[in-house]
Amino acid sequence: VPLNTVQPRTHGGALVDAPRTFGHRIDPALVSDEALTSLLDRYPAELFDINLYDFDDEGQVSLRTGVRGGLSGGELLDAIKQGRLWINLREAADGYPELWAQVVRAFEDLKRDVPGFEPIRFYGQLILSSPQAKVPYHADPGGVVLFHLRGRKRIWIYPPDEAHMPEAHMERIVMRQTTEELPYHRAFDGDAAVFDLEPGQAVGWPFHAPHRIENLGEFCVSFSADYQTWGSRLLNGAYFTNGVLRAKGRSVRSVRSLSGSGMAARWAASTVLKRMGVAESRLGGFERSFEPSAEAVDGARPLA
Ligand SMILES: [Fe+2]
Repeated sequence: VPLNTVQPRTHGGALVDAPRTFGHRIDPALVSDEALTSLLDRYPAELFDINLYDFDDEGQVSLRTGVRGGLSGGELLDAIKQGRLWINLREAADGYPELWAQVVRAFEDLKRDVPGFEPIRFYGQLILSSPQAKVPYHADPGGVVLFHLRGRKRIWIYPPDEAHMPEAHMERIVMRQTTEELPYHRAFDGDAAVFDLEPGQAVGWPFHAPHRIENLGEFCVSFSADYQTWGSRLLNGAYFTNGVLRAKGRSVRSVRSLSGSGMAARWAASTVLKRMGVAESRLGGFERSFEPSAEAVDGARPLA
């Protein structure tokens, strides 16, 4: 799709006001087996998130988390290719500067081609995932551009309305009282925009739009770039304030119905509330239950 067909956004300076794909020019050689083997060998163990999602027949999810373990980079890559793993390499700007330089250039392309797209901060993680891996239905607190680099995957993106993304739930996400999974029903799929992503494509969606992903039988590599805008900060500040009020049993006015000044007032309140430390994060460490192994079921060897 030519970039010059993009319409101005109406929602908080997000990249898009409806889900859509873009082209990108990130060099696929940066995620070849050779490049990934050497990256995995040197990447700091504490910056790995190693996840394994199990789904029941209704699509409801449970999560197991793993430790990096002692595998070499090549062995770890094999375990991902054989297993059902979802691995995030966090803080990839520092961890993989050669790739990050190209992500920065890709963001410059988007800013040039999408008038009004003004991210004030962006950062990201490199995602390596198994051929059969799936990510459950969830919503991210900030903006996301997913740059797909290798393999094929399908993404479902749902409207960020009350039926699909309840405000009370986003309040708890921005207050860090809960992880980003949301209540999901199979019937939602009829409301989704669906894209099959190929290397060289990126996809964006409005702030807080829920989404889920299934890999299409191939080892996949993507770069997930998170961004903030002034609009997203206002929005999340309003959710934070509403969440504090709701926890105190007060009635709250829907963020979706707020005027600009109502939003700004709640954002201002949120900065004070955060300084007061009213909402202690409840996101503790997860219990790690496995380490990657190419020989184990799902690529996950249970820890003793
Ligand atoms: Fe996400």
